[in-house]
Amino acid sequence: MEGDVVWSSPLPQVEDRPLGDWDDSVLILGIETSCDETSVAVVRGGREILSNVIASQTELHGEYGGIVPEIAARAHVEALSPAIREALVQADITFWDVDGIAATLGPGLIGSLLVGVAEAKSIAAVLEVPFIGVNHLEGHIYSNLLADPEATFPAVVLLISGGHTILVNARGHGDYQLLGGTIDDAAGEAFDKVARFLGLEYPGGPEIDRLALLGDPEAVRFPRAMIDVVGFDVSYSGLKTAVINHVRKLESRAEEVVVEDIAASFQAAVVDVQVKKTMDAVRHVGGDALFLCGGVAANSGLRQGLAEQCQRHGVRLSVPPLELCTDNAAMIAACGTAMARRGLYTSLDAAPDPNLPLIA
Ligand code: KG4
Ligand code: ZN
Repeated sequence: MEGDVVWSSPLPQVEDRPLGDWDDSVLILGIETSCDETSVAVVRGGREILSNVIASQTELHGEYGGIVPEIAARAHVEALSPAIREALVQADITFWDVDGIAATLGPGLIGSLLVGVAEAKSIAAVLEVPFIGVNHLEGHIYSNLLADPEATFPAVVLLISGGHTILVNARGHGDYQLLGGTIDDAAGEAFDKVARFLGLEYPGGPEIDRLALLGDPEAVRFPRAMIDVVGFDVSYSGLKTAVINHVRKLESRAEEVVVEDIAASFQAAVVDVQVKKTMDAVRHVGGDALFLCGGVAANSGLRQGLAEQCQRHGVRLSVPPLELCTDNAAMIAACGTAMARRGLYTSLDAAPDPNLPLIA
C-alpha cells in the first residue's frame, strides 16, 4: 500500500482537560514494556502506588545470555493484558476509574515499546482519557519520588542500569541537565559481560555482587578509567577488557582463578569511579540531594560507597527499594502524572522512539 494510512474518522485527542483536575486523587495506569519486564501499575496522585505488577522475562532470555529482542516483544504481547487485569484487581479499581494512561515511549527495544504503546493508546482512546508518552529515563528518576516521601527536586540523579549510566542535574519536573555519563558500556552492561565471561548466570550483576562479598576487593588492582579526568563521564569498556585479560593470563599460566576475588576487585573499580564522579557532580551543582536509580542501584558496594560519602558531606541520599530500582510501571505512572499536571499529553499519532533522548 502506498502513502500514509488515512483514518476514516479522527482518533479522539484529549487535550482540553483542566490541569487543576490532576489532584492527589487522580488515578494513572502506567505501562512499561521497553526492555524485558512487562509491568503495569496504578498510581494515585503521582506518589501512592496502588499496584505495581512486574512480569519478568529473565528466564526466557537466560539461556541466550542476553536479551533477544524478538523474544522480548512476543513475551510482552502475551504478558501485557493479564498484567493490566492484575494491576486493576490489586488496585481494586476498574478501567472506568482511570484518569489517564501513561506508557514508555522510549528509549528501548522498538518491538517491545510498540506493544505497550499500542495497548496504552487503545485503552486511552476507548476510555477517552489522555495518553501520556513517558521517557523511560525520566521515569527512573521518579522512582525516588515514589519511594521516599521526603524526596524532592532539585537533586543530582545517578541513573545506573544495564542500558544507561548517566548523571543528571534534575532542577525540577521536566527540567534536566545532563552532567555526564558513560562514553561506552553502561555499568550494568559491564557487570553482565564480565559475569558472562566468568561463566555466571544471566543477569550477572547480582551474581557478581554476591560473589564480591566473599572476595578480596584489593586482590587485583583493575584500572579506574577517567577517575582523574575533569568532568563526570565514565568508561567501563576498558575495565571489562582488563578483567578478561587478567583471567586469561592466569589461565595461560595455569594459576588459580579465584572468582570471588575477581568479582570483588572488578566491583571495587566500578564503585570507586562511580562514587567519585557522582560526588564530584553533587559538589559541582552545589546540591544537597542525591537520587540513585536503575538496576545497578541494587549493588551493595555502590550503595555503601555512596551512603558513606553522602553522610560525610551532608548530602541526602535517596535509594528506592529493589522493585522500584529495576524497570517498573509505577515510575512511569508517577512521571506521567507529573507530565499531565503540566498539560503534557501525547498525541495518539505519536510513535515510540527507541533512541528517545532525556533532553531533546
Ligand atoms: O534497570 P534495569 O532492570 O534494566 C535496564 O534498564 O537496564 O537494570 C538491569 C541491570 C542489569 O545489567 C543487572 O545485571 C544490573 O542491573 N544489576 C546489578 C545488580 N542488580 C541488578 N548490577 C550490579 N549489582 C547488582 N546487585
Ligand atoms: Zn530501565
